[in-house]
Amino acid sequence: MSEHQLTRRTLLKAGGAAGLAVSGPDLSWAQSVAGQASDLAAEQVSLQLLVNEQPVNTVVDVRRTLLDLLRDDLDLTGTKVGCNQGTCGACTVHVDGKRVLSCLTLAATLQGRHVTTIEGLRAPDGGLHPMQRAFVIHDAMQCGYCTPGQVMAAVACVREGHAGSDAEIRESMSGNLCRCAAYPMIVAAVRDGAREMGA
Ligand code: FES
Ligand code: FES
Repeated sequence: MSEHQLTRRTLLKAGGAAGLAVSGPDLSWAQSVAGQASDLAAEQVSLQLLVNEQPVNTVVDVRRTLLDLLRDDLDLTGTKVGCNQGTCGACTVHVDGKRVLSCLTLAATLQGRHVTTIEGLRAPDGGLHPMQRAFVIHDAMQCGYCTPGQVMAAVACVREGHAGSDAEIRESMSGNLCRCAAYPMIVAAVRDGAREMGA
């Protein structure tokens, strides 16, 4: 193996042994790569955005996700953590009116953007959004853990014009999993919520 071939073992060795004398092959190249990666990872950026129409002015690590910013920094815990890897939809929020998975969205990419979470969905008078009301009327939840993500996805589904039929709703909502399998009630809620939203 060439001494410049970087393997996981050499990288770990280089990172873990920083500052220690290393015998054997010259690992300075791997140590330099590990050092650069660690410098990059530690980078902080300033960030200004609107969350539920409230200005947020903060400094974030470039690795921080929108999900962590919302839940841990802003205490907006209505947005849920499920898989944390983009497969369950529990963390769905809106950015500039479009649905995104907050666990896969880096906060640092949101300079100047408008983020809406389930807490910001309420009507101007403080009452429930029509889609939230429809979920309650149809009892479209059991444990409720997936519900904030389902509601945010449902509002987006209607806005995107994908609530024309039950089949279309199921397709559009297929990225939001429900471990309690409340799917029939969720589809019924989206159908009625769409009507209430004037779709
Ligand atoms: S927590 Fe983001 S998709 Fe599952
Ligand atoms: S209501 Fe329990 S996971 Fe959906």
